[in-house]
Amino acid sequence: MTGLFGTLRLPASVIFGSGQRAAAGLTAARIGKRALICTDARMGADAQFRAIVTDLEAHGVVTRVYDRTEADLPMAGILDCVREYKDFQPEVILGVGGGSCMDMAKCVALLLSHGGSLSDYYGENKIPGATLPVMALPTTAGTGSEVTPVAVLDDSERGTKVGISSPYLIPKVAICDPELTISCPPGLTATSGVDALTHAIESFTAAPRALTPELTVNNVFVGKNVLSDMFGLLAITNIFKALPVAYKDGKNVEARERMMLAALAAGCAFGTAGTAAAHAIQYPVGSATHTPHGVGVALLLPYVMEFNRPSCVAAFAEIGRAIGLPGDDEKVSRDVIDAVAALLQSVGIPRTLKELGLPEDRQEWTAESAIGAARLVNNNPRKLDVESLKAITHAAFSGDRARLAS
Ligand SMILES: NC(=O)c1ccc[n+]([C@@H]2O[C@H](COP(=O)([O-])OP(=O)(O)OC[C@H]3O[C@@H](n4cnc5c(N)ncnc54)[C@H](O)[C@@H]3O)[C@@H](O)[C@H]2O)c1
Ligand SMILES: [Fe+2]
Repeated sequence: MTGLFGTLRLPASVIFGSGQRAAAGLTAARIGKRALICTDARMGADAQFRAIVTDLEAHGVVTRVYDRTEADLPMAGILDCVREYKDFQPEVILGVGGGSCMDMAKCVALLLSHGGSLSDYYGENKIPGATLPVMALPTTAGTGSEVTPVAVLDDSERGTKVGISSPYLIPKVAICDPELTISCPPGLTATSGVDALTHAIESFTAAPRALTPELTVNNVFVGKNVLSDMFGLLAITNIFKALPVAYKDGKNVEARERMMLAALAAGCAFGTAGTAAAHAIQYPVGSATHTPHGVGVALLLPYVMEFNRPSCVAAFAEIGRAIGLPGDDEKVSRDVIDAVAALLQSVGIPRTLKELGLPEDRQEWTAESAIGAARLVNNNPRKLDVESLKAITHAAFSGDRARLAS
């Protein structure tokens, strides 16, 4: 089979717009009578959050709030929440917050539905069937977790972050209200915004797969395709327009709207196409430096793009034209990497792994660990081996992108 190919797997409802959090009560009441709402301490004390809980109750939904979700989602917190609210027998689980709170809701729904331990589900397609319905309300723009088949948690025994990927983890409803992101400080706006940019670019340039009948059945992530591409470009154009504005002026509602739309679109793109080398290398970098996921993937992105360029001239040119760069494919495919690097710099993302705090003697280790993320490595448009991962890591450490140029 050849030709145009596309896959979409999305929530049953995606609702986007300023003020749309007011639809949460009506929507939840149609799904279940008892709702467990997972959030964190900051959001738990927030007036906008209390109004959402009151709205659910006004629509006859009995609620319980777990407000102790910790950033990066340590496994112990998930087990704590499940223990505390198992007997409540929730019929719907809400995740209200950043990626950590939404992933909390997904993991809690998974354990309440299928039992066992979280490690039973690490990797792809290990969940045996539907889980309790999840409603996701993001407050960062963002991870895209509101629409993705992914939950990421911190397994303290293994000392690493681990992913669970399955279409059964896709929330039933996503309500994306940009007003919930107005309170994000500049650093968080940048970190979560550049994570979305990396999702969009890595999925738009993901390796295309052989089109077999098993492709979409056996794999959660299916590589570059025409349907994810549409969302990828929507994300990229909006991030270039709005991220510097949202970073400088957090109260600018239009910029917040564009960023939340972009994060949502990037989630729709990478949720089927998948991400690649920047995400693979960030895993070891994140555990060595304890820096946010978004900063690491974005810092690596220009280096990964430079390495990938020979395999991506047409795709990079398409991205470059979408953000208004002139010239032929060859020129635009080079200029777009500079444009990405300049955007990252304008929102305070460090330029090198050295600045990020990676110890000099962990470079080889970083590359050797990254090769272990086989799903991400295989999704990269240009073939990766340990040597090429070392070259990318060394260049990103010293800030010498030119040495990867071809
Ligand atoms: N499931 C997925 O598809 C997916 C994709 C990418 C990343 N992730 C995961 O998501 C997590 C990161 O999520 P994140 O970047 O959204 O941050 P987060 O959820 O970890 O939150 C980071 C901090 O920001 C605060 N915060 C959140 N919203 C705020 C707001 N509106 N105003 C002020 N402060 C706010 C939180 O209280 C917290 O202290 C990581 O664990 C990452 O691995 C998941
Ligand atoms: Fe990411």
